[in-house]
Amino acid sequence: MKKVTIQPPATVANLVCGFDILGLALDEPYDTMEIRLLDEPGVIITSKDGFPLPKDPAQNTAGAPLIAMLEELGQPIGFEVIISKHIKPGSGIGSSAASAAGAIVGANHLLGSPFKKDDLVRFALFGEKVASGVKHADNVAPCIYGGITLIRSIFPLDIIAIPAPRLHVTVVHPQIEVRTSDARQILRKQVLLKDAIRQWGNIAGLVAGFIKQDYDLIGRSLEDVIIEPIRSILIPGFDEVKTKCRAAGALGGGISGSGPSVFMLSKDEATARSVETIMQEIYTRIGLDHHTYVTTVNSTGVKIIA
Ligand code: HSE
Repeated sequence: MKKVTIQPPATVANLVCGFDILGLALDEPYDTMEIRLLDEPGVIITSKDGFPLPKDPAQNTAGAPLIAMLEELGQPIGFEVIISKHIKPGSGIGSSAASAAGAIVGANHLLGSPFKKDDLVRFALFGEKVASGVKHADNVAPCIYGGITLIRSIFPLDIIAIPAPRLHVTVVHPQIEVRTSDARQILRKQVLLKDAIRQWGNIAGLVAGFIKQDYDLIGRSLEDVIIEPIRSILIPGFDEVKTKCRAAGALGGGISGSGPSVFMLSKDEATARSVETIMQEIYTRIGLDHHTYVTTVNSTGVKIIA
């Protein structure tokens, strides 16, 4: 039987100011998945741990992309997906994207790589649609491409890999669940022109800062005047985490994706570790269970292990 083991990484979407258009891949955590090629049509989903993943492939974030790929291929084959989830669903670090991207990259590999990266993103978006009701690519694109990606357009897909300096990323996941669909529902549908202008400046500044390796510019641009003021209400301790981590030397940061995880970027590992201590102290004091990661930007995306 043809099979492949892969590791799709966690991702941080939005990167504060770039709602739905910017994201980066993390070295840790990552899921482990085995994809098997079947000689009868269909998709089977098997969870190897306690997470209650939907068994109906059409409702599963790994299954829906594979169904879309099989429809396009038009061959009488199928896939079994065995998932060991380490990226907790609802954590805000791209759990659904990892399942979707992992399944599709693994399946493409088993078929001899007939599809390009943009096609893989296009299929993986079906998983995001199942998870949040919307095809946003700011988790699946960095998960598949690695590094930092800009999604200039989704229809048609236009993904740009952004070169960036070495960055250390600290993530805290307070153990509450925020569903992306809920966190999208509460957003205002219209923005003021003055806020849009400030946001455009920040997005352009952030991308320029990455490319020019200008850490001060990156730090100044990590500001969100549109989404964060609304969503941060869902995250206990958010303002304190942000203020204290910046004071400790972090370049800046904010809500990871739709939350509740919060991330901070730092220039060096020592700062990233002090930021972790600050996050731990705050959530211990608040009395909220939490999990932290100190990691770096994953430059390769989904890894094929064996
Ligand atoms: N851009 C999406 C959102 C990312 O913020 O809703 C979800 O992980």
